[in-house]
Amino acid sequence: MRLVYLDNAASTRVDERVTEEMIPYFNDKYAVATSVFSYRMGLESKKAIDSARKIIAEKINASSDEIIFTSGETESNNIAILGTSGKNKGKSHIITTKTEHLSVLKTIEKLKEGGFLVSYVPVDKEGFIDCNALKKSIKKETLMVAICHANEEIGTIQNIEKIGKICREKKILFHVDATQTFTKMPIDVEKLNITTLTLSGHTIHGPKGAGALFIKKGTKIDKIMHGGFNEYDLRPGTENVPAIVGFGEAVRISGKDCKKVSVLRDYLIERITNEIPDIKINGPLGKDRLCNNVNISFHHVEGESILLRLDMKGICVSTGSACFSRSLEMSPTMKAIGNNHELSHGSIRFTLSKYTTKEEIDYTVESLKKIIKELRKISPLGK
Ligand SMILES: Cc1ncc(COP(=O)(O)O)c(C=O)c1O
Repeated sequence: MRLVYLDNAASTRVDERVTEEMIPYFNDKYAVATSVFSYRMGLESKKAIDSARKIIAEKINASSDEIIFTSGETESNNIAILGTSGKNKGKSHIITTKTEHLSVLKTIEKLKEGGFLVSYVPVDKEGFIDCNALKKSIKKETLMVAICHANEEIGTIQNIEKIGKICREKKILFHVDATQTFTKMPIDVEKLNITTLTLSGHTIHGPKGAGALFIKKGTKIDKIMHGGFNEYDLRPGTENVPAIVGFGEAVRISGKDCKKVSVLRDYLIERITNEIPDIKINGPLGKDRLCNNVNISFHHVEGESILLRLDMKGICVSTGSACFSRSLEMSPTMKAIGNNHELSHGSIRFTLSKYTTKEEIDYTVESLKKIIKELRKISPLGK
């Protein structure tokens, strides 16, 4: 059976050039980087990590000592939020939105349990933050604004330059989760006034198990795990050298595919809009939408049923965010943009990559047309 992978917001196929770079670090160059002072083999690992760190730092206009490697985006978000929460006296208020990833929402909930105040800034029907409401919610106790650069479900790209300016004026920390945007669009941490920035390896054709966190020099932040002195004494534990090498290579070779991917994204949206009735596109159209994201609600049918039937045709997509796809709960993002239960549960997310072809999109649309027609015939939800 053929395979069409359209769940690239969840994870991506590792580029062969990345795998090739990683292989020597499994069987030949396997020493821990902290053994650099003991033997030369350790130096090789240390150099490899330093090189990946430099590549990543340069990509966001940071310096190498502002980048720490983590196990992934969840950990990076946790360090940024929890790590600053105890280190900034008198600051016990966080501003965020309901459309953040669970690794931000749940971490902030933990702070709330411990006495923090949280303001959730509303978003409009396309998922854009209300910047005036954000400005108004700032208090003298505000520690941080925590915002996702682009929403992983509906692809809305926030105006982080504008939010960064507000944070600069009010002298508050600005945490940005760039899991879905890193390498897909330029990010300049200096210009955007970002304090901490979450970066992902496995959503950019790198390996799983490697993420990073940019931490602006001078930020008061503590480690959240305790142990050794790795990663500038901010993230203890043996560095995952092969994954870090792969992450660096994925960043090095990145950056030329977004235009091509967005053409296919718009082709998919256009075909579904023209050929399948009773649908709703979730999120904005055009330049403010992630280049690889399509999210559509199909009226009168359950997303789960669409997903299973697409899977039988070898097409991998998701309903809502991957984290909610095993839950009957409505995703907070769908709720925040005003979708009702039917629209939320009838939504399908297609996320493309540089490997997606027009022919795969055509196969997906043809399959989808049949599936939606069949499901609507037997649907108890209406038509
Ligand atoms: C915006 C965003 N942040 C964080 C994460 C968490 O990623 P991971 O589960 O790889 O740590 C994801 C995963 O999809 C995401 O899309």
